[in-house]
Amino acid sequence: MDENRQPVILDCDPGIDDAVALLLAARAPELKLVAVTAVAGNVGLDKTSLNARRVLTLAGVAVPVFAGASGPMFGEQVTADEVHGADGLLGIPAPEPAFPLGEGTAWDVIWQKAQEYGKELVIVATGPLTNLGIALVKYPELPSHIKRIVLMGGATDFGNTTPAAEYNIYADPEAADIVFRSGIPLVMCGLDVTHKAYFTQDEIDQLEALGTPQAVFAARTMGCGVEWHQRFLVPGAPMHDPCAMMYALEPELFEGISCWIGVECQGKYTRGKTVTDAYSDAKMSSGSNATLVTQADRETFVAHLTERLAAYGMP
Ligand code: RIB
Ligand code: CA
Repeated sequence: MDENRQPVILDCDPGIDDAVALLLAARAPELKLVAVTAVAGNVGLDKTSLNARRVLTLAGVAVPVFAGASGPMFGEQVTADEVHGADGLLGIPAPEPAFPLGEGTAWDVIWQKAQEYGKELVIVATGPLTNLGIALVKYPELPSHIKRIVLMGGATDFGNTTPAAEYNIYADPEAADIVFRSGIPLVMCGLDVTHKAYFTQDEIDQLEALGTPQAVFAARTMGCGVEWHQRFLVPGAPMHDPCAMMYALEPELFEGISCWIGVECQGKYTRGKTVTDAYSDAKMSSGSNATLVTQADRETFVAHLTERLAAYGMP
């Protein structure tokens, strides 16, 4: 069984939607979650590295969690505690962690696991890309050891943190630029698809009605996003980070475009903007460096995500 499971590292900043991505990964039969690396983002590193362990304890699994960067590589730190609450989980009850932080930094663990799993390691990144940026600077050979990075971040249209930029990229544009120029095969699950991968209030209510601690936690955390996202004309709560994890699990639920994507780091109004030639006849000479995910089979996405959380209640 193990040899058929895709080795994955989840690099995250839990965060209410990171938490649901963790719950999906922890029990996914397709994956072997070999490590979780925490980064400062939605809230500070002390809280993201604690929340990762709290959610894994809720999932009933003891995957090693390693702390990474406590802030962006170069810019000012930008948090999102207005969305995730001061503790990062909207104060919604979750168990105290059943295990301590692992020894070692996120970037060293990423390198170690990349060497251990060869070209087979997939990294799902659902926070600012600082840990990966540092790992790529410290270990220039890393790109030849990574199968793929599936990341939640970016947007080809409007942003959610500035008019131009989505949070994960805006929080550390320089790190994102390093990742997008690394040559590692990338899948970008940006707002283009995550705003289509939403749960309606009814679907959140159905999730909560499952009654398992994991489903109730997911419904209560994500449910808070329904009203907040109406400003983006999304008729529900977009499952940003779970969307990236579901892509890693079931890519057939999604459609994408192979294209070039770059990160603007200098713009006065556009810093953190992901720029793509996907819709332009003026192509960038460097060719495609990423798959831009543009569509999701929303109904099946909702059904399968719900089923995966329901599985926690089964023997
Ligand atoms: O823009 C959405 C992203 O920013 C998600 O990863 C959410 O957790 C926040 O980090
Ligand atoms: Ca996140």
